[in-house]
Amino acid sequence: MRKVRLRLGSNSYNIHIGSGLLTQTGQQLKEIGFSDRLVIITNPIVESLYGDTLKQGLTSQGFKVTILEVPDGEEQKSLETAGRLYNELSNFYAERTTPILALGGGVIGDLAGFVAATYLRGVPLIQIPTTLLAQVDSSIGGKVAVNHGQLKNKIGAFYQPRLVISDIATLRTLPQGELSDGLAEIIKYAVIRDKGLFTYLERNLDQVKSLDEGVLEEIIFRSAEIKAEVVEKDEKDSGLRNILNYGHTIGHAIESVSDFKVEHGRAIAIGMLAAARISNELGILDKSELIRLKGLLKRAGLPIEIPNLEVEKLIQSIKHDKKILREKIRFVLLKSIGNVFITDEVSLSLIEQVLAGWNGET
Ligand SMILES: NC(=O)c1ccc[n+]([C@@H]2O[C@H](COP(=O)([O-])OP(=O)(O)OC[C@H]3O[C@@H](n4cnc5c(N)ncnc54)[C@H](O)[C@@H]3O)[C@@H](O)[C@H]2O)c1
Repeated sequence: MRKVRLRLGSNSYNIHIGSGLLTQTGQQLKEIGFSDRLVIITNPIVESLYGDTLKQGLTSQGFKVTILEVPDGEEQKSLETAGRLYNELSNFYAERTTPILALGGGVIGDLAGFVAATYLRGVPLIQIPTTLLAQVDSSIGGKVAVNHGQLKNKIGAFYQPRLVISDIATLRTLPQGELSDGLAEIIKYAVIRDKGLFTYLERNLDQVKSLDEGVLEEIIFRSAEIKAEVVEKDEKDSGLRNILNYGHTIGHAIESVSDFKVEHGRAIAIGMLAAARISNELGILDKSELIRLKGLLKRAGLPIEIPNLEVEKLIQSIKHDKKILREKIRFVLLKSIGNVFITDEVSLSLIEQVLAGWNGET
């Protein structure tokens, strides 16, 4: 098992990464001081795959376990579902000290995290992410949220978990599309902060695709380290943490204009490549780096062509997303692989030019 420590004073916590960790959860919770009742929030898919294993690992250590299920799907990240969970927690007489374990992907992590942050003004939260995206991204850093109308992820809190347990063995049952979403984020970490990880991915991509546990552990560990380091420096997202949005401005526009038919990871891949092309247009990024990024994304099975969407609509979506008053927007640009910076000086016309002139060539 590998450990990453996220240091935030009294809110510091460990991220444990390894294969078969679900069975050790009881032991690990005892080590950080829990011993009594707890609640698992999960969905039917994850429950049927991993509910029993986790439960057994907890009851064998003397925990009394209640499982609360919510249906699968992004639409469950709602105030309505949170309200239902509050009622169920109350029926169960959950107290301020009763931990909530979020077992599932980012949807469960965000929803259960939001409930943990708000029920009785906060109960302990343990993240047990079971998707690659949740293991490298959403379970780390304390952003918890639900959606509300048009407000995606906008009703929420910064609420750090007490422990994150990433069991790599759970990734074996993950659908291919979900693996690509996580892989896109891992490539993002390499691009923004770690050229060595980028080279490692280039060398080991086939092993990633065949779910080699040693390679998965290495890339999840290094991604968690990068996210932890960035969150430590900027917990509340007022500066450096923005670099984690590399590729996301254009990526979100693609998701939104395609009515979410282009999945998150695929949209982010195009967004990352577009940001690299903008960096190259501005004379900041060498073309050879752009070609390397394109090559890795392609080998990872992620798109390198812009989908058939109207550029004008993409620009409108970016404008709306960023509430732009001027013609320039805040953007994360690439100097070289492993080295990004934030600028307020990217013009919408340049973005438009790069998207409109996209022809598959770098
Ligand atoms: N809080 C943050 O910092 C943050 C960061 C990024 C994304 N997010 C949020 O994360 C969510 C996306 O998360 P996601 O990609 O994990 O999606 P998800 O939670 O919807 O999971 C994807 C699918 O995989 C299933 N699943 C989960 N684990 C599985 C397993 N081991 N085997 C088989 N199936 C499994 C789920 O039931 C679901 O159907 C979005 O709501 C997004 O807003 C949050």
